[in-house]
Amino acid sequence: MTPTASDTPAVPATLDVAAIRALFPALHQQVYGKPLVYLDNAATTQKPQVVIDALRHYYERDNANVHRGVHALSEKATAAFEGARKTVQRFLNARSEREIIFTRNATESINLVARAWGDSQLKADDEVLITALEHHSNIVPWQQACARTGAVLKVAPIDDAGDVVMDEFARLVSPRTKMVAVSHLSNALGTINPVEQMVALARSVGAAVLIDGSQAVYHMAVDVQALDPDFYVFTGHKVYGPTGIGVLYGREAVLNAMPPFMGGGDMISSVTFEKSEWNELPYKFEAGTPNIADAIVLAVAIEFVRSVGFEAIGTHEAALLDYGTRRLQEVPGLTLVGTAKRKASVLSFVMGDMHPHDIGTIVDREGVAIRTGHHCAQPVMDRFGIPATARASLAMYNTTDDIDALVHALGRVRQLLG
Ligand code: ALA
Repeated sequence: MTPTASDTPAVPATLDVAAIRALFPALHQQVYGKPLVYLDNAATTQKPQVVIDALRHYYERDNANVHRGVHALSEKATAAFEGARKTVQRFLNARSEREIIFTRNATESINLVARAWGDSQLKADDEVLITALEHHSNIVPWQQACARTGAVLKVAPIDDAGDVVMDEFARLVSPRTKMVAVSHLSNALGTINPVEQMVALARSVGAAVLIDGSQAVYHMAVDVQALDPDFYVFTGHKVYGPTGIGVLYGREAVLNAMPPFMGGGDMISSVTFEKSEWNELPYKFEAGTPNIADAIVLAVAIEFVRSVGFEAIGTHEAALLDYGTRRLQEVPGLTLVGTAKRKASVLSFVMGDMHPHDIGTIVDREGVAIRTGHHCAQPVMDRFGIPATARASLAMYNTTDDIDALVHALGRVRQLLG
């Protein structure tokens, strides 16, 4: 049997961080002779033991191709793979498992939509509306789709706090708008977008909506029936799962009307040299052997997160964000970048003219892992007139001690560079 979240020792409803930390082996190591303080969760989260065990179990006991064999292992792998799809369906509260497409990552999911939906639906002078907060993965595929179709990319600006200027967003929504593609939660600044309002504005002109939920799915519960976008995408490795597996949720009617993205095995119902017919959903969009192992293990990660519960995770991370914001504001010369009214536990900052890469390198020597750079969101950096930030991003297993360690390491930065 694949290990499941029920194999993980029970964690009480209020999050017991020590119990949580005990489940993540990678957290218990030293770097440069210092205990690791892992604050780069927006880049990728560490994995609980149950996820690591499930991956090993799959390859030791269940490995076979899916949808193809009549033998026992193939049936077992197929059942686990399709079971994983159901787990994702429940996680997003999608109506049907036919609405869940497995991809490599969120980037591939967005490219799938920009190609299959964009190329068939967009025409010259149509508009695609994004925000100035987007990750490159929700900018570049739309630029490419616009270049292919003659559509025009429009960008809603952000203010000094890192909030989308909603008056401007509303002004940019027009009968020409055919697609509104927005992040749920900014990886660079932590801003939580008012996606409900954005969906309503898009709907008022009949535009389609894609939400990039990569950063949202490990911080908060997502309900695609309540939000009602046409597409919702996320990547597995941010939600404590493996790399190389992503999800595209699409409304069934919209997916049915779209041509396939890639051609090959499994996505067809029949092939002759004259003509091929497409398979039904979701297989129409899953050409070739899928990432069977990581889809199955993603489901284990999702069950793990659900067993901890978003209420407990949200309360813990909100307290950490408060504490981290206060503590970082006490560091002389430090300026937080991104102070949105609704934000998740992401602390982006600069320190005078010290280069963020130097900050990152010095704190790394103190055992503290943060990300520095433009965070695949160069337009966000341009908006603030900076090349890069240092970014501490917090997850369910982080503690106030981790933040204290960061503040201590920043003291070392000031000694060396100040
Ligand atoms: N997009 C990821 C990040 O924000 C990799 O770090």
